[in-house]
Amino acid sequence: MSSTSSAILKSLGAGAALVLIASCGGSGDSASNEQTGGPVDAAAQEIADTRHEAMEDIGGAFKTIRDQMNAGSPDMDAVRTAAAFIEEQSTQVGDWFPPETSPVLGVDTEALATIWEQPEEFASAVERFETAAAALNTAAQSGDADSLASAVQGIGGACKNCHDSFRVDD
Ligand code: HEC
Repeated sequence: MSSTSSAILKSLGAGAALVLIASCGGSGDSASNEQTGGPVDAAAQEIADTRHEAMEDIGGAFKTIRDQMNAGSPDMDAVRTAAAFIEEQSTQVGDWFPPETSPVLGVDTEALATIWEQPEEFASAVERFETAAAALNTAAQSGDADSLASAVQGIGGACKNCHDSFRVDD
C-alpha cells in the first residue's frame, strides 16, 4: 500500500517537473532540487532567467532583421545594429550555461540536460552560431542584399541546430 502511494507521488512529481520545464521564465519557486530534494539554488535560477531573457533579446534582434528584409525599403541602420548585437551575444552564449543551471537540479529553464550530457556537441553548436553571427554582421555592414539573405539563412540554421538538440520544443 505505502509503496503504491509513493510510486504515485513519484509520478506526480515527474509530471510537475515537466510542467515547470515547459514554462518559460516563471519564478520556479515550487520546484525542488531532484538530486538533493532541497530547494532550488536561487542564484542558479537567476542565471537561467537572465539567459532566457538574453535569448529573447537575440530573438528580437533576429526578428528585426527578417522584418526589415521583407520591408519594401529596409532600414539598414536597424539591420546593422541588430546584426552587431547578435554577433556580440554569440561570443558570450557559451558562458550562459553553468552546470548548476540544469533542469535536473530543479531549475526552471527551457534548456535541456543534454547541454551538460553532450558538452562537445553543445560547444560545436555554439561555435556554429558564432561563425554564422560573424558572417551575418559582415554581410549587414556591407549592405549587400544577396550576402545578407544567405547569411540570414545561415544564422537561422544555427539557431535551429542548437534548439533542436538543446532546448525544450515549443
Ligand atoms: C548554442 C545553443 C543556442 C543557439 C545557437 C541559439 N539558442 Fe536560443 N535558446 C537556447 C536555449 C538552451 C534556450 C532556453 C534557455 C532557457 O530557458 O534557459 C533558448 C531560448 C531561446 C528563446 C526563448 C524561448 C522561446 O522559445 O521563446 C528564443 C526566442 C531564442 N532562443 C531565439 C534564438 C535565436 C533567434 C537564435 C539565433 C539567432 C538562437 N536562439 C540561438 C539555445 C540556443
